[in-house]
Amino acid sequence: MLIFSGNSNRDLAEKIASDLGISLSNLEIIKFPDNENRVRVVDDVVDKDVVIVQSTAIQPNLYYLELFLIIDGLKRSGARTITLVIPYLGYQRQDHVFRSGEAVSLEVIIKIIESLGVNKTISFDFHSIKIPEFFKNEVVHLSALPLFAEKIRTEVGLENATLVTPDMGGIRRIELISEMLDGVPFASVEKNRDLNTGEVESMILHGEVSKKAIIIDDVISTGKTLVAAADLLKEKGAEEIYVFATHGVFADNASDLLENSIIKKVYITDSIQVPQSRVFSKLEVITISHLIAKELEQ
Ligand code: R5P
Repeated sequence: MLIFSGNSNRDLAEKIASDLGISLSNLEIIKFPDNENRVRVVDDVVDKDVVIVQSTAIQPNLYYLELFLIIDGLKRSGARTITLVIPYLGYQRQDHVFRSGEAVSLEVIIKIIESLGVNKTISFDFHSIKIPEFFKNEVVHLSALPLFAEKIRTEVGLENATLVTPDMGGIRRIELISEMLDGVPFASVEKNRDLNTGEVESMILHGEVSKKAIIIDDVISTGKTLVAAADLLKEKGAEEIYVFATHGVFADNASDLLENSIIKKVYITDSIQVPQSRVFSKLEVITISHLIAKELEQ
């Protein structure tokens, strides 16, 4: 097996390769003066099973284009099979038509990836459980929830804890992690957004919250969902608030918002490589490399 990495999350790609006891294979990715990219596969891939590691956040358009060119380069160079490890699948929140006239961006992305020759896709904690249905070829949907459950048990503690989903779409996620933690109680927040601006308009808590609230989410983008949910939980009696989210995008000023919020600590995974400018002191990153390496070994 050969592993190639795009430019989005080289640290994770290196960890996966190291878990598998190999080195990353070589690709050239250069940018022309007019900003167009050129990709060239350097190593011999004829009749080899190859893996590409690329996450598509922070600069999703650039990283998707890089990915398309890498797949094409590998296919033309004779790779036998291509497995795509895309820990964060960008554009996944645009998975249906919210308002007439909109594109279903996720469907477009998956059509391109599969038509270029990806045989199998491995990803993490999709926004919706329906997303695997968009793929025609094999898709493996892994989850960071077992890693979060372990952290909660050993670091945050289960005493006086309530798990909270900040969005009704996260109900299945919260049920699963509650089961992993011997049935810790959970509550849910009903969130309403303005579809034009994306702003959180209102939040209603369903259920009760105890002293320690542990919010579980799939992705942090602007951080506004979490800050609004944390304020509501405090109002309802929570004294300590923790956040576990698989994907840390930290768009706009999310890092500052979270750092200055009442949230005590934010745990994410390395599904997205967080640029130094978006790192903040309350942040802890848990690696998913060994889960991916284990999947690739099968
Ligand atoms: C919502 O449906 C998701 O689970 C996240 O809560 C949401 O996408 C986070 O977005 P933001 O950080 O911009 O509020």
